[in-house]
Amino acid sequence: MSDSHYLSATGMRGGYGKADILDNCTLTVDKGQIAVIVGPNGAGKSTAMKAVFGMLHLRQGRVTLDGEDITALSPQDRVKKGMGFVPQVNNVFPSMSVEENLEMGAFIRENDIRTTMEQVFDLFPVLKDKRRQPAGELSGGQRQQVAVGRALMTQPRLLMLDEPTAGVSPIVMDELFDRIIEIARSGISILMVEQNARQALEIADIGYVLVQGANRYTDTGQALLADPEVRRTFLGG
Ligand SMILES: Nc1ncnc2c1ncn2[C@@H]1O[C@H](COP(=O)(O)OP(=O)(O)OP(=O)(O)O)[C@@H](O)[C@H]1O
Ligand SMILES: [Mg+2]
Repeated sequence: MSDSHYLSATGMRGGYGKADILDNCTLTVDKGQIAVIVGPNGAGKSTAMKAVFGMLHLRQGRVTLDGEDITALSPQDRVKKGMGFVPQVNNVFPSMSVEENLEMGAFIRENDIRTTMEQVFDLFPVLKDKRRQPAGELSGGQRQQVAVGRALMTQPRLLMLDEPTAGVSPIVMDELFDRIIEIARSGISILMVEQNARQALEIADIGYVLVQGANRYTDTGQALLADPEVRRTFLGG
């Protein structure tokens, strides 16, 4: 069975040990679109991302990428198929330089990575200036740029970001969202978890409100922002 969405993760059920966290969770992203997952702490947003990336055993459900069933593939093999993932925590090697972090990101590539690194530097110019500095010495926002840049080094077609703006100022957040829009305009699909729900839904083609591992609301970002119930319950009024 083929699927018209670029990424289609349907009916996911699974968790840690015997306890299921994901409850029939479904997430799809179209080509070049931005999909945003929001929801309360502990809702299972990171767990859903791990499941899509192959880091979590699914008891039920199916993941397809560009029409191909990848449910049984390891994370590394999913990277080869075009997925890039920036986890919520520990997403850079702090003692390694910016440049070394980017090189590590390209681990599966056998061809020349210089052009891709230049593209990352074009997107995040400050990283070029700081390329010899240990990533751990950078500001929070710059470290997130390193993490995103590292994931871009494998030239993904789907970029998955778990709370890319965590702990950064509003200005840095806006800046990072602008870069994410730029990445999507280049044809890369984005699947992103965000705690800055309002701002993230502003740029979302599709938004998912996840509660207790289940899809509670799914709609365009604008429709979710306009929904009084969503606003009252999840966006602080
Ligand atoms: N490695 C793990 N082992 C066992 N339980 C876990 C593990 N990671 C997460 N959990 C539990 O799974 C549930 C969902 O966690 P998850 O991290 O996916 O939520 P989240 O929506 O990403 O939350 P946050 O907004 O805090 O990042 C929580 O109850 C959490 O305690
Ligand atoms: Mg999380």
